Amino acid sequence: MQIKTFHFMKNLNKNISFLSYKYLGSSLILLQSTPRKLRAFCAKLKMAANNLCSLLVGTILVIAAIHFNGINALSSNYYDQTCPMAESAVTNAVKKAMLNDRTVPAALLRMQFHDCFIRGCDGSVLLNSTTNNQAEKDGPPNISLHAFYVIDNAKKALEAMCPGTVSCADIVALAARDAVVLSGGPNWAVPKGRKDGRVSKASETRQLPAPTSNISQLQQSFSQRGLSMEDLVALSGGHTLGFAHCSSFQNRIHNFATTQDVDPSLHQSFATSLRSVCPMHNTVRQAGANLDSTPTIFDNRYYKLLLEGKSIFTSDQALLTNPTTKTLVEKFGNSRDEFEKAFVESMIKMSSIGGGQEVRLNCRVVN
Ligand code: HEM
Repeated sequence: MQIKTFHFMKNLNKNISFLSYKYLGSSLILLQSTPRKLRAFCAKLKMAANNLCSLLVGTILVIAAIHFNGINALSSNYYDQTCPMAESAVTNAVKKAMLNDRTVPAALLRMQFHDCFIRGCDGSVLLNSTTNNQAEKDGPPNISLHAFYVIDNAKKALEAMCPGTVSCADIVALAARDAVVLSGGPNWAVPKGRKDGRVSKASETRQLPAPTSNISQLQQSFSQRGLSMEDLVALSGGHTLGFAHCSSFQNRIHNFATTQDVDPSLHQSFATSLRSVCPMHNTVRQAGANLDSTPTIFDNRYYKLLLEGKSIFTSDQALLTNPTTKTLVEKFGNSRDEFEKAFVESMIKMSSIGGGQEVRLNCRVVN
């Protein structure tokens, strides 16, 4: 892990201070406490650093202190004492919703991605617009996000059990994990202890990678959030679940380039079938295509199809345009096990991008 800078910030409104570090453009809060306690903590750290005569060693001490003492860091047993039923309440809400609607898991997995990529994993994607503010939810890439009611149902159950304890951001992370498990994918221990944010702006959803992105745009978007090329390839495997509307892949099947109507990297008969469900002047709002041929099963089919020219987005196809990412696509296409291992690791990394400050009582409105 590469540490760039430390920041000691003070939130004057709430009399709370943060010790945070900036990592590749993303701010990660390490400690959150009262200004007095934080100043005392920092003084001790400074002394330790002086004794060892090295700022570098001081930095390592900070990380070690956070890591081993777990002060406001994410941890998988975060609610063991305060809300031991937290995980099962979320799982029940996801299971119940899935019984009525098989598209719920895909929606919940994508929700976590969209939450974490804007302002960190702080539940900002869940906030409703107000008279003065258009929220992320109403930004163009999020119009097709759905299943917010699943998060609301889980939150309602949790507020009845342990009021004001479980953050909406943690509910999103747990629901995404459950969505994967309940679709036949891998299980993992979700680190918890995220806080909910108080800001959500539709305009910021422009920062989400577009389905028309090329490999360098994707790489930049991921690296700005501390995520690697391997994370990019593993997390794109989320496209093993779900569906895309015609507008998301229109660029590949009509007017692709001046001399080619269709993206030549698309398998020919696959392109023909996409064109038949999505004609040039499509008027069916719900028309589109599944992201792979088993859209409710979490498997490695997405990578196999990608290698056959049967992916949906330009951003999927882009993974074959770079030797490093192409090798990873081949690896994950050949081994479901390798894919699952990499996916879990990358999900934990993505879902640890920090953000918020409070535990919201209603996931749709700030406290
Ligand atoms: C690499 C950059 C990515 C781009 C450009 C991208 C883009 C998109 C687009 C355009 C859609 C279809 C929206 C629609 O037409 O309704 C979609 C669907 C989806 N994406 Fe991604 N995505 C990316 C990464 C991810 C990641 C990291 C995950 C999760 C780990 C993910 C999970 C999903 C899922 C599950 C769906 C289906 C949603 C549903 O059926 O409701 N995507 N993505």
